Amino acid sequence: MKALVLSGGLGTRLRPITHTSAKQLVPVANKAVLHYGLESIAAAGITEVGVVVGDTAAEIEDAVGDGSKFGLDVTYILQEKPLGLAHAVMIARDWLGDDDFVMYLGDNFVVGGITDLVDEFRRCRPDAQILLTRVSDPRAFGVAELDANGQVVGLEEKPERPKSDLALVGVYFFTPAIHEAVRAIRPSWRGELEITHAIQYLIDTRAEVRSTVVQGYWKDTGNVTDMLEVNRTVLEGMVRRIDGEVDEASQAIGRVVVAEGARIVNSRIVGPVVIGSGTVVSDSYVGPFTSVAENCRITDSELEFSIVLRDSSIQGVGRIESSLIGRHVEVTPAPCVPSAHRLILGDHSKVQIRS
Ligand code: G1P
Repeated sequence: MKALVLSGGLGTRLRPITHTSAKQLVPVANKAVLHYGLESIAAAGITEVGVVVGDTAAEIEDAVGDGSKFGLDVTYILQEKPLGLAHAVMIARDWLGDDDFVMYLGDNFVVGGITDLVDEFRRCRPDAQILLTRVSDPRAFGVAELDANGQVVGLEEKPERPKSDLALVGVYFFTPAIHEAVRAIRPSWRGELEITHAIQYLIDTRAEVRSTVVQGYWKDTGNVTDMLEVNRTVLEGMVRRIDGEVDEASQAIGRVVVAEGARIVNSRIVGPVVIGSGTVVSDSYVGPFTSVAENCRITDSELEFSIVLRDSSIQGVGRIESSLIGRHVEVTPAPCVPSAHRLILGDHSKVQIRS
């Protein structure tokens, strides 16, 4: 069995972060979302992985390499335009050969991994197996309709009037039966070849499509609120580990990870928190569910329930909460006179100011 990992796409929902970075590489607890996916593929005993890349190919290749650090053998497949998930299957046809495969969307996060699901698929081997989860706003997803026996009877992509609250999770299991289906369908209103339509084709042609409702937490990490939630979930499962320096005047309470080369000076860190290497936290408070990446400076400030990406600095600004701060960002106090906010914000930035 092989894995096809989709790591193209524009990530428009996560702008401005994704103006400069692939959405699959946005870190959760200081590790790229895509890394968790690759780790769960390896844990399930799959080694042959095709990674479909688009405009952000260089960045993805830089992060994943030949896959050996995950125990995987990675082949890159270029999708020149984001023409849909079924299109990705089409262009991977030669590499996939006649093997069964799991298709994994690189911006999805499945807590607890996929080992049990891979085992179930191998055991039962239906033509396709999909995962469903209950969501509050199904209109942002592919949505499944089940009959009284729990059998999938219909799938719709981002319906305006969803027939259920069961959304398609971005992890799908396929036999080679999918190849005929992706060839049979036509582009949707958004100009993409939808995998949802290909699976509907399988249902309509009486192929066996099984579904499993997953209880475990998962999110399409396409927006900031979801990012903060995923980050919180992962941090909650962390084990305390202090490899960096915490000086005498500081406290690190609970599940705190301080990477080697990080320094905590005259500060209070209340876990779960992760601090990346090269980062210095001084005269500050860092509260629960916060990830600060590498080479940041947090000085004379308070930070909670937030993600700070690498090479950023936050200095003397009081308290920041529920925030996602990109790379190379500077947050500093404004001069007292004139009494005004002074902002230099990139395209698609969002700021909330207490007035
Ligand atoms: C895609 C699928 C959708 C699925 C979602 C999960 O949506 O088309 O059916 O529910 O992934 O992440 P997209 O990310 O392309 O909007």
